[in-house]
Amino acid sequence: MCGIVGYVGEHNPKDVLIDGLKKLEYRGYDSSGIALRSNETVQVIKSTGRISDLEEKINNTKLINSNLGIAHTRWATHGEANEINAHPHKVGRVTLVHNGIIENATELKNTLVNEGIVFRSETDTEVAAAVINKCYDGNPIKTITEAIKLLKGSYAFGIIFENSDKLYAVRKDSPLIVGISDTEKYIASDITAIVKYTNKYVLLEDNEIAELSTKDAKFYKNGEEIEKKIEQSTTKIEDANKGSYKHFMLKEIMEEPLVLQRTLNKYINNMDKIFDVSKYEEIHIVACGSALYAGMIGKYLFEEKANIRCITECASEYRYNKVIYDRKTLVIIVSQSGETADTIAAMRKAHEEGIDTLAIVNVKTSTIAREAKHTMFIEAGPEIAVATTKAYLLQVAMFSLLALKAANIKGLENNYEEVIKEARRLPNLVKKVLNDHDKFEEVGKELLDAKDAFYIGRGIDFAICKEGSLKLKEVSYVHSDAYEAGELKHGTISLIEDNIPVFAVITNEKIKDKTESNVIEVESRQARVYTITNDGSITNHHYKYVVEKISDYFQPILVVPPLQLIGYYTANERNLDIDKPRNLAKSVTVE
Ligand code: M6R
Repeated sequence: MCGIVGYVGEHNPKDVLIDGLKKLEYRGYDSSGIALRSNETVQVIKSTGRISDLEEKINNTKLINSNLGIAHTRWATHGEANEINAHPHKVGRVTLVHNGIIENATELKNTLVNEGIVFRSETDTEVAAAVINKCYDGNPIKTITEAIKLLKGSYAFGIIFENSDKLYAVRKDSPLIVGISDTEKYIASDITAIVKYTNKYVLLEDNEIAELSTKDAKFYKNGEEIEKKIEQSTTKIEDANKGSYKHFMLKEIMEEPLVLQRTLNKYINNMDKIFDVSKYEEIHIVACGSALYAGMIGKYLFEEKANIRCITECASEYRYNKVIYDRKTLVIIVSQSGETADTIAAMRKAHEEGIDTLAIVNVKTSTIAREAKHTMFIEAGPEIAVATTKAYLLQVAMFSLLALKAANIKGLENNYEEVIKEARRLPNLVKKVLNDHDKFEEVGKELLDAKDAFYIGRGIDFAICKEGSLKLKEVSYVHSDAYEAGELKHGTISLIEDNIPVFAVITNEKIKDKTESNVIEVESRQARVYTITNDGSITNHHYKYVVEKISDYFQPILVVPPLQLIGYYTANERNLDIDKPRNLAKSVTVE
């Protein structure tokens, strides 16, 4: 959601900025812009639409000879997606790009308007630029230090002052890193934007200010210079490229065996690294979207296998609902990006109540990774497609391992060694499923004209259905819903009509007959039933795909990839912008 790139160095920043914006496209955006500075002149170029539209505009403009610039992709929050609202915003001597939300923008704007400032855009960012400009006293560090005291909310700012040849940055509750090389310095929302140029970076903490020049990177907090550690990223250039794949989503699904191997190796060979949840009486799993659905699988495993009471709730509700913490509770926070605003707020709520938190997270530099009391990292590497696939699968794997360890500690698992052996087979088993991709492509073709679809399952299969349904709707725009199989006939079955696709997930042996009878109910109403199961004996409806039957701890890991591929191929048949579905952002950094 919004992306920032900035550059100061020996070269013209244009190419670095455009290249960086392209790498950040996955975050979701609807307009973009750049600002270049030279000899007290700042040139701003903005465009709606794709980065290619901005690039065309830049190529048709005579650019100033610059070595300092900032750039931005905007996902509209305050004001519609148009050129005026696009960043950078220039007020007086200050030019700004911004991620986040200034919560007291209206109040600040009213004061500034009364003082005679005229605003052109509807954005909170222009207000922030005006506040910084008002504080400007010729000393950028002092200016920024004073200005951020007046701002409430979240921000990552890239700032150019007209009469300084340095690049400035500051952040609070919104990600921003500083890239370092000998003769060039960068700022970026994440490392993928600049990994082509450097893998050395500095992580800015809240309200730390970076002052960057070609040769130097200095850091300040509360007006005092501070030392910062230079980190080395393991992200590779290939991670930010599609390679031979048509879309990142497909590439990332196909990477699942590899990332599973990496994650399982890390934990299975050293079960001590797996957090012990057995000492808690209750677990709350809090997350958004797919991360929440991974948590729903976790709930079934914790309750069924480890006998630990567990609730799941989406973070946007949890943060505001009354939560009763009357038992020894662990809050598990799940997030690929580690920057989802509601999830961060839910985690902080638990901290305020003195509750332990465990974060299952992918991005190691993220806010959640840094603030959670305990963390377990999944090793998915950068995930670029907006629709999560490989990270979701690893979140599920992490819940399997947490539940297995807890069940073992509590003496509830008699086949521990067998289950571990099975875990080692998982990457190959997933590879086998992915090798059948043409079978799922066929389903995608059959869904070409579908307007609605349903996913039904019971217990853990229902949790899998939630993710299958989300994958289909978010990339292919087919309306779909997931139901507990037994719940359908309490109303929704009235929507079942001739040829409507219904996906049935049936892996749970205890209740498979029950789901099967729900399948027959929809089939009797002419639904087209696609069954994904681990039981070859189940009736062959319109379509059946059978995965190998493995331990219930890991069964979802084999069932989810077919559903991900069906979502992907359905969207592909429709020629949609799969990696950047409309209206969506990769990490949702606003409420
Ligand atoms: O980065 P997070 O895991 O916190 O993101 C949570 C959701 O926004 C995310 O899973 C979303 O639902 C994806 N679009 C699903 O593909």
